[in-house]
Amino acid sequence: MLEIQGLVKKYGNFKALDNLNLSVERGSVFGFVGPNGAGKTTTMKIVSGLLSATEGSVIVDGKDYSRDPEKLKEKIGYMPDFFGVYDNLKVMEYMDFYCGAYYIPYKDRPKLIENLLEIVDLKEKKDFYVDSLSRGMKQRLCLARSLVHDPELLILDEPASGLDPRARVEMKEILKDLSAMGKTIIISSHILSELSEMCTDIGIFDKGKLLMQGTVNDILKKVSKKKIIKLEPLLLDERIVPYLEENPYISGIIERNTNIEFYFSGDNNELSNILTGLIKKDIKLISFTEKEGSLEEIFMQITGGAEKND
Ligand SMILES: Nc1ncnc2c1ncn2[C@@H]1O[C@H](COP(=O)(O)OP(=O)(O)OP(=O)(O)O)[C@@H](O)[C@H]1O
Ligand SMILES: [Mg+2]
Repeated sequence: MLEIQGLVKKYGNFKALDNLNLSVERGSVFGFVGPNGAGKTTTMKIVSGLLSATEGSVIVDGKDYSRDPEKLKEKIGYMPDFFGVYDNLKVMEYMDFYCGAYYIPYKDRPKLIENLLEIVDLKEKKDFYVDSLSRGMKQRLCLARSLVHDPELLILDEPASGLDPRARVEMKEILKDLSAMGKTIIISSHILSELSEMCTDIGIFDKGKLLMQGTVNDILKKVSKKKIIKLEPLLLDERIVPYLEENPYISGIIERNTNIEFYFSGDNNELSNILTGLIKKDIKLISFTEKEGSLEEIFMQITGGAEKND
């Protein structure tokens, strides 16, 4: 549904985006990940029609909108990372203001606003002043306002930042609902483990480029040269570690409480041999599994690697 081709954004001589290419499938929840200053917000603003690119194309449903930001704005709902303070405006008035900005007819507004406030769970707050809402509520209101023109593509810049754990879970639930309603969603975040739970695909940004794009699992496979295997014996047995140490594919053995973890670089055949070997020694195991690599680890591995290559 969205193709970004050769996007360049220069601020003076500084290249904030450097030939960025990216594609987002309809119906996906696509996560932008990357360190501060990587170019996530810049990309989101360009795709939302709020910032013009120095070079490159933004193609939505096969049509190039690079020179037509106003049309782009109609297709896309954008929630910025920072939003202003609104004095003396009640929640309803705020929503009405945004309906006006998108030329929603007066007669359609009450029902629409009610529906949107329902989605973001702010119905009871409709007569409260925006200023009096908590941060999490303001963020949800901001999400509601980005939906007034029923966009197919939602671009949300760090919608969960600054929220407490409970509010984050609520935000995640709302995004799940929106995805189930058929919206395509692009979301940026620093909370990487959260993105890996929510997203179907992930793009890793660094220094204005996209280092990698794919499903969470694809990316895991690409970068994790070594697996982390975790085993838990029924009883700690001093024969386990020496047995593992003998194996040429095993390194970095760590004993943690009742668990043992190690890096493994061999194939599945070799892995099953290790398990058979332990059982033959009559060592009783409760579990023997591959530990899922956390996104944080991958992220550090990829962006750290990019720095070294510079
Ligand atoms: N208006 C501007 N003028 C000059 N440089 C800018 C401007 N806006 C952004 N930049 C620069 O462009 C680069 C990318 O910024 P951007 O905000 O897109 O990063 P980001 O990935 O969203 O970072 P963060 O995780 O901190 O939100 C940064 O180096 C930033 O300093
Ligand atoms: Mg940003």
